[in-house]
Amino acid sequence: MKKKRIQIFDTTLRDGEQVPGCQLNTSEKIKIARKLEKMGVDIIEAGFPISSPGDFNSVEKICKYIYKPIICSLSRAVKKDIEVAASALKYAKNPRIHTGIGTSKYHIKYKFNSTPKKIIEVAIEAVKYAKKFVEDVEFYAEDAGRTENNFLAKICEAVIKAGATVLNIPDTTGYCLPEEYAEKIKFLKKNVNSIDKVTISTHCHDDMGLSTANSIAGIINGAKQIECTINGIGERAGNTSLEEVVMIIKQHKKLNFYTKINTKLLYKTSKFVSECTGMFVQSNKAIVGANAFSHSSGIHQDGLIKKRETYEVIDPKDVGVNKSSILLTARSGRSALAYRYKKLGYSFNKSKLNIIYHKYLKYADKKKEIYDEDLKKILKNIK
Ligand code: KIV
Ligand code: ZN
Repeated sequence: MKKKRIQIFDTTLRDGEQVPGCQLNTSEKIKIARKLEKMGVDIIEAGFPISSPGDFNSVEKICKYIYKPIICSLSRAVKKDIEVAASALKYAKNPRIHTGIGTSKYHIKYKFNSTPKKIIEVAIEAVKYAKKFVEDVEFYAEDAGRTENNFLAKICEAVIKAGATVLNIPDTTGYCLPEEYAEKIKFLKKNVNSIDKVTISTHCHDDMGLSTANSIAGIINGAKQIECTINGIGERAGNTSLEEVVMIIKQHKKLNFYTKINTKLLYKTSKFVSECTGMFVQSNKAIVGANAFSHSSGIHQDGLIKKRETYEVIDPKDVGVNKSSILLTARSGRSALAYRYKKLGYSFNKSKLNIIYHKYLKYADKKKEIYDEDLKKILKNIK
């Protein structure tokens, strides 16, 4: 069966940059956009131009300097927003306006003090207005995760009629369980007229740690675009992490999907975004964390030395990390110790290794990690 292509929509420069304290200037945004283009993302959401003159300027400049990906500009379902979003896109080779409105009862009642009927009217108007400026219009149903499926289907059908090319189904509050999100996409596929003429997009937040699982559940059930950010940065607990969904798609062949991402650039891009935003990547972060390919327990190290696949499901080279590392701690065994000594040019018979190992453990109980210089010190006075 032919593999299905999943489009990667990166929103590091918009949803990602909404994180307090990680604001980027125009020059940093252009540099990040260039890295995203090189890595092969399909769509770059460059910003929310009505929000500030600086953001407008960044979107405009990104349109000038980026050639291949679609450049997307965010707006609310408000005429002025749409005009400004369109104006910032004037140099884009492939422009897209992303407009939308809250559709859950919380948003309709408390945020807009409105009714479902009026919300549909505003959504239709917004899409029609955006279509006057660009052909490619993505509609987001904010808080779709907590929107009742029948109403969601109704508004989706209305905006498709109005000309939307992409339907974004955000789990804005990160509330959905993977089964619920899967069911939502399945429901739309089954109950919305002309749904097959548009692309369904996932946009999941990580408030309960389920954004990656929900995005994957979404594509399994018919979505063809995933919205995500480098390192999963974004509002509150963040967005779906690009590197996670891309590697899941690559490693799980049975899913029968592919992306255009050059995964060998994942680690470098993650580092670059982390440096620009000042947002540290936690060491245990999947794929790009400092410990993602480090092994410290004796049992794991022994297996890994015998065959990498015993404890790794990804070859680190595939994400641009040179090699797995064997860290020496008090939990390491003889096999890891011998392996690290061998790298330094030493090899010992069993009984000598035993003696060294006992001395090593005394060191290791005092230190968090044992480095090459410690290994050399341990050898002193051992005959
Ligand atoms: O999380 C969300 O709903 C959003 C929309 C603006 C797309 O970021
Ligand atoms: Zn979001």
